[in-house]
Amino acid sequence: MEENKKVIFSGIQPSGNLTIGNYYGALKNWVKLQEQYDTYYCIVDLHAITVKQEPKDLRRRTLEVLAIYLAAGLDPEKNTIFIQSHVPAHSEAAWLLNCYTYMGELSRMTQFKDKSARYGESISAGLFSYPVLMAADILLYNTDLVPVGSDQKQHLEITRDIADRFNNIYSPTFKIPEPYIPEVGARIMDLQSPEKKMSKSADNPNSYILIMDSPEVIKNKISRAVTDTIGIVQYTNDQPGIKNLMDIMSVATGKTIDEIQKEYEGLGYAQFKKDVAEALITELKPIQSKIKEYLDNKELLEEIYTKGAEKANYVARKTLSKMQRKIGFIK
Ligand code: TYM
Repeated sequence: MEENKKVIFSGIQPSGNLTIGNYYGALKNWVKLQEQYDTYYCIVDLHAITVKQEPKDLRRRTLEVLAIYLAAGLDPEKNTIFIQSHVPAHSEAAWLLNCYTYMGELSRMTQFKDKSARYGESISAGLFSYPVLMAADILLYNTDLVPVGSDQKQHLEITRDIADRFNNIYSPTFKIPEPYIPEVGARIMDLQSPEKKMSKSADNPNSYILIMDSPEVIKNKISRAVTDTIGIVQYTNDQPGIKNLMDIMSVATGKTIDEIQKEYEGLGYAQFKKDVAEALITELKPIQSKIKEYLDNKELLEEIYTKGAEKANYVARKTLSKMQRKIGFIK
């Protein structure tokens, strides 16, 4: 951990099976950033319980997400990888920041509006104040950059507002973080309704591709992906299904959208879909076998998250103490 390196923080919820949206929007970019930055990658289990979780599933998924981080290429020697609930400062800082956040600004969060429409009356207060916990995550580490998909942009904006407010009331305490959103892959869409973002909580499994999906399942889901009757592989808003598959092809192969468009000139959707599925299988297969290896080595996983929590606790505690002192709590 070098002093002059810029800091990165990001996290994924262990609230379902991870999709290629999580992979291309976030995880794959984290791996690219691990060399130049001082990185903190968290499994945000405190966020996951804002909606109902079965305890045994939460436990299993938390370890699965850790295994996925490692299998995707995050090196535990180069990154601080930890489980959010192992660092109590996150919950404590979130409470403090709750008192500097307005109900009005939280009510404007689109993720909250979407989820509250879905869960109706039984929505938790945690879901409402969820962005404050996310702000705590980020601000505790003096984060410069937050690599996320575009759906998290609004949460980054509120994080910046909360940090700025706290700094103004007291004195400069928090660094104001910037989002880091990839040019392609920041919003992988639902394969059945390409006007919606791909989500691990969708009802129809054909809507998403999971990182753990087998080659057969991937082929099937891509072949069923909704397209259009135009029949040309081109990147336009009139063809949201094809546009999404082109994005997926681009992030999976590194080819540009232009290159893909030229390559499929005069070819039909069947060939294109077949190749998109192949590209995904090629990318995911080695990751999948590594995930299995890590999950078979619980001791190693424990070693990694224990060491990660130690490092994270050290940094987070320091920032929390600074906050408490500025607010006026007795030491
Ligand atoms: P979560 O768990 O919903 O998603 C994890 C990451 O995956 C990205 N993502 C996508 N990117 C592209 N296309 C998609 N269809 C897609 N679906 C998800 C998300 O943008 C995210 O980067 N609140 C966060 C977790 C969090 C966090 C943080 C992130 C908690 N604290 C601090 C950054 C910093 C969330 O629910 O992500």
